[in-house]
Amino acid sequence: MAGLSLRRSRLNRHLRELTREIRVHREQLIQPLFIVDGIQRPEPVDGIQSVYRDTPESVLPQIEADLEAGIKKFLLFGVPGRKQERDFDHRFTSLQIAAIKEQFGEDLWLAADVCLCSHTTHGHCGMLNDAGDYVRNDATVAELARAALSYASAGADCVAPSDMMDGRVAAIRAVLDQNDLERTAVMSYAAKFQSHFYGPFRAAANSAPAAGNRLSDRASYQLDPARPTDALRSARRDAAEGADILMVKPGLPYLDVLAELTAAVELPWAVYQVSGEQAAIDMLAERGLADRDAAQRESWTAFVRAGANAIISYAARRAVV
Ligand code: PBG
Repeated sequence: MAGLSLRRSRLNRHLRELTREIRVHREQLIQPLFIVDGIQRPEPVDGIQSVYRDTPESVLPQIEADLEAGIKKFLLFGVPGRKQERDFDHRFTSLQIAAIKEQFGEDLWLAADVCLCSHTTHGHCGMLNDAGDYVRNDATVAELARAALSYASAGADCVAPSDMMDGRVAAIRAVLDQNDLERTAVMSYAAKFQSHFYGPFRAAANSAPAAGNRLSDRASYQLDPARPTDALRSARRDAAEGADILMVKPGLPYLDVLAELTAAVELPWAVYQVSGEQAAIDMLAERGLADRDAAQRESWTAFVRAGANAIISYAARRAVV
């Protein structure tokens, strides 16, 4: 027994291109944006190349450059200048949404992240009880619905709740529909795990749980990495509550979950390649231990192979696909 069998179709680049089953298009990519209140000039996000904490002024030419590069979908994180415990002020982010949509209109698709972690004094994704040991569910959901209404009224094409409270998708869908905003989509962070890969994001969004909190981490609301069936229930629940797009987050450590959920729940699926994953790739490349563009493409290919339709990626704007 000798000779080629499986290798024949891998021998040259043309055949490899012809026989490929998975392709990544820049149309699938969503670029995160940070706009920060009260800073004078854009600041690089620590650990990630070509991503900035933008000012309201600097974000506009950044988006223009991204559109020229063929990236037209964005996920916006507004970082307000003032921390509060209640009666949150959603105007800063809403003003940025209005300015972006005023300048670029239908040339782009703008999703706004909906959460309270950048707003709260303690850094949790919702409002704490008096004892400080529980994130109140329904009070938080009411506040998230107010934020979503404000962002959608300002012109966001999509609102994306990332808080992990129960019932927020239904509450947001209801408030949008009651206010003539039935065209605004909801992208739910349905399977968002309590991960240790969120570090660079929390620094950029000023949203880490504060030192000295009684509740030190997000384990009482984000999913347990060791309990994947909870992700399936969460996805089914959010689908039933009216989500238009569901998400798995992080990406590479949860490819098994992505593959299982995309097969089980027939909605469009996004995956979020989070800040720590991005920093890992960028640091490998910086130290000469990986080809940056090729490693990036490999990870995006894995997401599409596992069933993702859309990919949220900090590297979207430098995509070589
Ligand atoms: C929180 C939120 C997080 C991210 C987006 N929204 C993480 C967290 O739980 O602190 C993480 C994104 C990333 O790491 O890139 N609402």
